[in-house]
Amino acid sequence: MTTVIRTDHLTKTYGRRTGCEGICLSVSEGQIFGLLGPNGAGKSTLVKMLVGLLHATSGSAEILGRPLGNLEARRQIGFLPENFRYHEWLTGQELLSFHGSLYRMDSHGIRERVTEVLRTVGLERAAGHRIGTYSKGMQQRLGLASALLPDPAVLFLDEPTSALDPLGRREVREIMLELKRRGKTVFLNSHLLSEVEMICDQVAMIREGRIVAAGALDELLSARLEVEMEIAGLDARLRQALEAGGRTVAPAGGQVAAGEGVAVVRVGIRDRDEIPALAQTVVDGGGRLYSLRPVRDSLEDLFVDLMKGGGS
Ligand SMILES: Nc1ncnc2c1ncn2[C@@H]1O[C@H](COP(=O)(O)OP(=O)(O)OP(=O)(O)O)[C@@H](O)[C@H]1O
Ligand SMILES: [Mg+2]
Repeated sequence: MTTVIRTDHLTKTYGRRTGCEGICLSVSEGQIFGLLGPNGAGKSTLVKMLVGLLHATSGSAEILGRPLGNLEARRQIGFLPENFRYHEWLTGQELLSFHGSLYRMDSHGIRERVTEVLRTVGLERAAGHRIGTYSKGMQQRLGLASALLPDPAVLFLDEPTSALDPLGRREVREIMLELKRRGKTVFLNSHLLSEVEMICDQVAMIREGRIVAAGALDELLSARLEVEMEIAGLDARLRQALEAGGRTVAPAGGQVAAGEGVAVVRVGIRDRDEIPALAQTVVDGGGRLYSLRPVRDSLEDLFVDLMKGGGS
């Protein structure tokens, strides 16, 4: 797969304050990449460097095989900034036409493309209204329309759904998935874990300016596989047998019943292939297995774990 974004120890400091530090990431073509992190973690700093709005203090990066700031690459980048204010006296259509002219599109191209992106973001009926009358959500959609205008190969979206209601969020998720289907690469900054979990292929988590986890979403989550079991007759010996090899055994939801009652426990495993042997261990240890269910941690569990003990 072609690498579209690659960063090499990219670092930005604001005076003595760290924006982000030593960021090494790569994003392949046609993927939706989610950068997750709490407020102040450095997400916007990183994206602003990648789109050429901030100079890196050290390190380097390439977009579409070209160094940061390269004009050819910048022509193929779309960007939705997190906090934007557009000229309130313009209509949505006028603003997009103005942006089209900044992209040096010809007037016919602008007309066609503006109509198309307004339709994509669901603003065609408000196109002739002044931006000052738009709701926050409508302004965010307009920002997205502007990012889509040049039909870029790579899109950087900094919290694209922060002002949207649940329906609006779903629509924007659909737009991102449609872009992916068309082979575009999407770099999404978000602190909405469920959103990232729903649509991203690759995820990185950033904390206090540093990447603390990165990889394919499936791999990050399956590294934390657990099996929930209802067992009758779970005594100390059986518990020890389950813990063999360093496995963790913990009560699930505090429902452990003593003695002959049915205990509900969660056993941490590394691989699905451990599951049959685990069931066998229960039977061999004299326990009666009422149910066995593999449970995958949510991205939220992983996020909370990684952000514990830090944050800003
Ligand atoms: N222009 C600036 N001058 C000084 N410090 C800055 C500046 N911009 C960002 N910072 C600092 O850099 C760090 C990272 O900020 P950044 O805006 O990149 O975080 P973020 O992850 O985008 O946060 P949020 O989720 O709130 O948007 C923070 O400590 C912030 O205070
Ligand atoms: Mg930000």
